[in-house]
Amino acid sequence: MPLVNLGFEHRFVPARPDGAGRPPLLLLHGTGGDENDLLPLGEALAPGAPLLSPRGKVLENGMPRFFRRLAEGVFDVRDVEARAHELADFVLAARDAYSLAQPVAVGFSNGANIAAALLLLRPEILAGAVLFRPMVPVEPATTPNLRGTKVLIGAARHDPIATPAETERLRGLLERAGADVRVDWVNAGHGLTGIDVANAKRWLG
Ligand code: MLT
Repeated sequence: MPLVNLGFEHRFVPARPDGAGRPPLLLLHGTGGDENDLLPLGEALAPGAPLLSPRGKVLENGMPRFFRRLAEGVFDVRDVEARAHELADFVLAARDAYSLAQPVAVGFSNGANIAAALLLLRPEILAGAVLFRPMVPVEPATTPNLRGTKVLIGAARHDPIATPAETERLRGLLERAGADVRVDWVNAGHGLTGIDVANAKRWLG
């Protein structure tokens, strides 16, 4: 029920009584997804929590994404930076419009990458993040202060895109910034599994 666009096409689902006290989830879809995709995942992870779900503004052969890439796994870093700031400003506007607390991001693939960019470039925006199959989207010029920010990385041992080495590189960057990082590994590829969802639900509490 978005009242206004706030700069991004999006869906907003208000809190239900059973979700009282839960932080809002900022749901960030993968390449080719949209603002509807992750609403069921958000409800499964945090029943009754407010859900804020924007649609990425970049189109790649008609498929929405959150930033431009030059090839699979090769990112347009200037676009990553600009889009991360644009998304951060949307989150602030949405918090104001819907009276929301600081959100926890839940992102998959390209959505996990823009969530990681938010953490690294605008560390004040997120209360925490669940990153399913993330890569390193950008190496910030200065180390952000992520002390007190909890991050769960849902990684897969056989992911050819978000490889184990890339996972460890991101973990290192976030830990050096002071984030409290947990990595849960599954024996799977790039696609999300039921085990990932169960792990994230447990982590969110
Ligand atoms: C990205 O482009 O963000 C990653 O390669 C994952 C993907 O969206 O396929």
